[in-house]
Amino acid sequence: MVKKGIILAGGSGTRLSPLTKAVNKQLLPINDKPLIFYPLSILMLANIKDILIIVNPKQIENFKNLLGDGRRFGIKIQYKIQSKPKGLPDAFNLGKNFIKKDNVALILGDNFFYGQSLTAKLEKSLTHKNGSRIFLKKVKRPENYGVAVIKNNRIEKLIEKPKKFISNYAITGLYFFDNNVIRYTKTLKPSKRGELEIIDLLKIYKKNYKLSFEHIGRGAVWSDAGKIDDMTNISSFVQSVEKVQDIKIACLEEIALYKKWIDKKQILKNIKFYGNCDYSNYLKKI
Ligand code: G1P
Repeated sequence: MVKKGIILAGGSGTRLSPLTKAVNKQLLPINDKPLIFYPLSILMLANIKDILIIVNPKQIENFKNLLGDGRRFGIKIQYKIQSKPKGLPDAFNLGKNFIKKDNVALILGDNFFYGQSLTAKLEKSLTHKNGSRIFLKKVKRPENYGVAVIKNNRIEKLIEKPKKFISNYAITGLYFFDNNVIRYTKTLKPSKRGELEIIDLLKIYKKNYKLSFEHIGRGAVWSDAGKIDDMTNISSFVQSVEKVQDIKIACLEEIALYKKWIDKKQILKNIKFYGNCDYSNYLKKI
């Protein structure tokens, strides 16, 4: 079972400057919540309660002010500083003392997933003991992502940001890995952009016939919040769903309460913590 999860929330978010000059991208709003609530909710929905958040040194206090040690949501959150962005697999160098001998999930702090069918797929992936598992989504602009070429229901090729069209199945920013990930990461060399690449890590699993995948499918939504347009699109999507359905997406307390990780008393404490706001009013309702 995968019981540990890492959220990669480092980086300087230069593509979103000046928004990110003072505040980390993952703390910017998606409708009524900070962006990081959404990937955190995905780990919680996958029953992962032991979480490491990788942050840049200037922002650690802000993350702690917002999420604390996770007790408010019935989970355990630890933080690790990444002094310089060195690529996604650096999460496994920085996180090796957290992962220890376990398997681990990695989610990128700027990735948004939504859809009920996803939860079942996540739960299925948790039971994977060996290898790596990735989630694919058909996209309009595959050149912006790592992509997988699928043939006969198998991954034939993996390419990071292909200049020429080869597949429109993007590799989303949610990955499950067995414990070999720590060892494999040590063998990676920086790419032309000077960073360790997640795709090179996945290629090692593929070579060993240990890479499996799941399609996210049409019933679910995925987007990364790389550009300002993505941020506003996700934000209005969340706003519409929340208005039409009268629910909140990524309400961490609601997930924790449903899973019986916290009780009503804790919810009342959290309402006090947030103060008089729309989010608190929702907590009162649940
Ligand atoms: C990264 C990965 C890419 C993946 C994407 C998902 O891209 O390198 O393979 O498809 O995240 O969000 P980057 O954020 O470096 O552009």
